[in-house]
Amino acid sequence: MDVQISVIPAHVGENVTLKGWIYNLRSSGKIAFLQIRDGSGFIQGIVHRPDVAEEVWEEVRRATIESSVIVTGTVSKHPKQDEYELHVKELKLVQVADEYPIGKKEHGPDFLLDNRHLWLRSKKQWAIQRVRNTIINATYEWMNDNGFIKIDSPILTPAACEGTTTLFGLDYFDLGRAYLSQSGQLYIEAAIMSHGRVFDFGPTFRAEKSKTRRHLTEFWMMDAEMAFCDHDGNLAIQEALISHIVRRSLERNRVELKILERDTQKLAKANAPFLRMTHAEAIAKLRELGSDIGDEDDLGGDDETILTESLDKPLFIERYPAKVKAFYMKRDPKNQELALCADLLAPEGFGEIIGGSQREDDYAALLSRIEEHGLPREAFEWYLDLRRYGSVPHSGFGFGLERLTGWICGVRHVRETIPFPRMISRLTP
Ligand code: 4AD
Ligand code: MG
Repeated sequence: MDVQISVIPAHVGENVTLKGWIYNLRSSGKIAFLQIRDGSGFIQGIVHRPDVAEEVWEEVRRATIESSVIVTGTVSKHPKQDEYELHVKELKLVQVADEYPIGKKEHGPDFLLDNRHLWLRSKKQWAIQRVRNTIINATYEWMNDNGFIKIDSPILTPAACEGTTTLFGLDYFDLGRAYLSQSGQLYIEAAIMSHGRVFDFGPTFRAEKSKTRRHLTEFWMMDAEMAFCDHDGNLAIQEALISHIVRRSLERNRVELKILERDTQKLAKANAPFLRMTHAEAIAKLRELGSDIGDEDDLGGDDETILTESLDKPLFIERYPAKVKAFYMKRDPKNQELALCADLLAPEGFGEIIGGSQREDDYAALLSRIEEHGLPREAFEWYLDLRRYGSVPHSGFGFGLERLTGWICGVRHVRETIPFPRMISRLTP
């Protein structure tokens, strides 16, 4: 019977067939230990030479690391630990792998990234992608259960959403320049006037000059947008969504988080309500800690690390100076210099995972922001229309999938959290 390693505990004592790869092996004259993986999990296979046919032992001798195999044997459980073994009776090599470049010694990040197409098979990389998959599914689940409709926003756009300095441009037939989307936000703002609550989830692009552990040039974002929702309502939705995602990861990825040596006790504390602080309070706190940051400065990656290092719960930083934030954010009615926005910072030093705000819903105010930011009015006429025809108070936010995955996995650099990272100096494989 063909089975997957993930369901092996239900087959103790049975004869089963596994299809997968040998990720490690050692053998002596009479016995061979094969570490087998099949995508669903890992198991040790044991071959006793006296128990198998001579052809089977010959196959074992030809096997190499990363050879693909079909093995049949009997499942047994380790008497004490929660571990299972396969006593191999039959073994067929599907392909004998060439000498495998990864795993013989410690490799540097460049070597591993050059071999990303192979590195993805390593245990830790396997675990990270499985957690990422849980986050994606938990997001869809929560959004569906809470009345959100998925609206796919375009990738090719005529204008900037998040400032003109990080745009990737290309020539678009007779229509001039087009740009890769930095965020689908503006488009899903249109869609809430049809559906009330919507989200998108897809690739976004930033021509980021920054070479930091938090920046990719291509990353995945989930943007959510809600009609008749104010700043506080926006934060409440973010808390509920992120708490749900963390809970699902803890439930579904016990094995993966163990492989990643993630401190799950800490992760378990990341539930609603989250911590809150204004931008002004954050600046005061940073100064207390010795920083020379100015009152009106945006927070940099290092500032976020310092603010969140000793925290267990995510922290909202609210009400940034409007001039360091995007043109579409509504001003704080109590102080016109501030934006009704919040960034959500992940604890343990991970920093920003979400950017969000209440949106400017007044036609005249939005038009003057577009002009102040030097944005081409023609390209935003359709966006201004949303304030001409049935404008409502509305808010939204966007999370970066790689940043979120990095925090939940306890992986510091986002390059490991996306299957094929794109960075300022990397476009391959
Ligand atoms: O804070 P950002 O720029 O916000 C927006 O784009 C809004 N339009 C979202 C919205 O309100 N719908 O980006 C949102 C999130 C960040 O918090 C971060 O997690 C991630 O996207 N992000 C990046 N991730 C990896 N590499 C980069 N270069 C990123 N830039 C932003
Ligand atoms: Mg941001």
